[in-house]
Amino acid sequence: MDGRMTEHELVILARTAATKAYAPYSNFHVGCAIESVDGEVVTGANMENACYRLGLCAEQSALTAAQHRFGLGKVARIAVVGGSGAMICTPCGGCRQAILEAAHLADRDVEILCASGDGSAVERHTIGELIPFGFGPANLAPVA
Ligand code: THU
Repeated sequence: MDGRMTEHELVILARTAATKAYAPYSNFHVGCAIESVDGEVVTGANMENACYRLGLCAEQSALTAAQHRFGLGKVARIAVVGGSGAMICTPCGGCRQAILEAAHLADRDVEILCASGDGSAVERHTIGELIPFGFGPANLAPVA
């Protein structure tokens, strides 16, 4: 495990982050924990707004924290936990695109642990599986 935390520990951090969600409109609390290649971890939660469309997802909140703490290029593993029951929460389409940006910067297929709100179920994916044929920074590179 090269000094990194266990999957269970990372999911627990995401669950704890979900308790800090501000989601009075959907009442759907999402938490995200992002681990760097060096084992540092940052977290985030969703934050809604009375102007509904301004709501921020947990993953994007955590990715912002990751950029500030260690840089998107060092993102290695992400845990996402949402809801209150046994249904697994996978990142929404927009968050997959945001995670893909980090994966492309890092040049690695970021692991994503998707867990249910009650922590009873966890699925392992990679961002490559969740958003195949994605659009990324390379698409915008200048043509030679
Ligand atoms: N949400 C996330 O934070 N991440 C996702 O990947 C899925 C959805 C939030 C957005 C909104 O605050 C609530 O969950 C319901 O959609």
